[in-house]
Amino acid sequence: MTTLLSTNDIARIVAAHGVPEVLRRMEAAIGADFRRWPEFDKVARVASHSRHGVIELMPVADDSSYSFKYVNGHPGNHRHGLPTVMAFGVLADIATGRPQLLSELTLTTALRTAATSVMAARELARPGARTMALIGNGAQSEFQALAFHHGLGIDTLRVFDTDAAASAKLLRHLGGVCGLQVRVCASSAEAVRGADIVTTLTADKRHAAIVTPEMAEPGMHLNAVGGDCPGKTELHPGVLQRARVFVEYEPQSRVEGDIQQMPAGFAVTELWRVLTGQAAGRTSAAELTVFDSVGFALEDYSALRLMRDLALNLGLGSELDLIPALPDPKDLYAQLTAAAVSETRRLRAA
Ligand SMILES: NC(=O)c1ccc[n+]([C@@H]2O[C@H](COP(=O)([O-])OP(=O)(O)OC[C@H]3O[C@@H](n4cnc5c(N)ncnc54)[C@H](O)[C@@H]3O)[C@@H](O)[C@H]2O)c1
Repeated sequence: MTTLLSTNDIARIVAAHGVPEVLRRMEAAIGADFRRWPEFDKVARVASHSRHGVIELMPVADDSSYSFKYVNGHPGNHRHGLPTVMAFGVLADIATGRPQLLSELTLTTALRTAATSVMAARELARPGARTMALIGNGAQSEFQALAFHHGLGIDTLRVFDTDAAASAKLLRHLGGVCGLQVRVCASSAEAVRGADIVTTLTADKRHAAIVTPEMAEPGMHLNAVGGDCPGKTELHPGVLQRARVFVEYEPQSRVEGDIQQMPAGFAVTELWRVLTGQAAGRTSAAELTVFDSVGFALEDYSALRLMRDLALNLGLGSELDLIPALPDPKDLYAQLTAAAVSETRRLRAA
């Protein structure tokens, strides 16, 4: 049997442990896997673009497990009552190919993206960072805010969204968080001014310039999360020109990240090299650093394994009859004959 984890199962895991603890474990799990980066068979994700958005498949494997995520990005989805980003994924056994786990990954993606952002900021932001600008206050925003508050000690958030209702929703959710002050700003420029960290989380399929060169101050760390697709960027190229830029998996980020705007030879550093001590993170208080995040399959691999283990401990999840259970593995047809007999009986009895 394959284990199924629904959205409700994931929400119950988070309720049982609390958001800070799940984020802490998520960061630890992703960090442990990034530190053994060479052990993974990696590939840039496969994307199907349309004028509405993108649908992507994200596979990765080591010598024991294989995982993939299905994820979309449709910035206009709110008009259809749907989130911009929706996802699910599979974890399979490498030795047999048996799918062990089928899980929702919409909530889980928000958790793993926030945990990855904090993992990067730990290496790249100035020590003692306390103020963060948060531009784009949609579905991902609470997760990023809480991850930076609990994980990195951010105590002041300055938030902005072109949709005032999105900022009001963020304020409502964060209003009761002890030790966290949230101020809604009238523009990106106002939110960014004087911030230690700037997180951009907007969804718009165009080359937006959420952060322009005059807004980027020495010593800032930019956590650029929303530019994750060809033709969809958030940072003005002049900002990247002045910064040291860090990415997850370079072949994918060259196509999808904010660095798609830069020449092929533009220098970037993969984050795993910083985590393993092979490359420097921030080297001075005045340096401008950018984590050009697009989301990499390994983060989902780590997240799927963590959620599987947490669900197991809490007795959550259900069994899914996804693969035929065959007394003789060469006799797949027997599955049909057994079903035909019971279906005939059922129809006669009806
Ligand atoms: N890097 C990653 O791993 C990763 C993971 C998940 C999502 N994402 C990306 O993050 C982005 C946000 O995702 P979401 O689920 O929160 O989307 P969402 O649609 O729920 O929220 C996006 C918000 O951005 C706002 N916005 C758009 N243009 C803006 C602008 N110019 N200035 C200020 N606000 C603006 C919108 O009004 C909306 O409230 C998406 O682009 C998504 O693709 C990246």
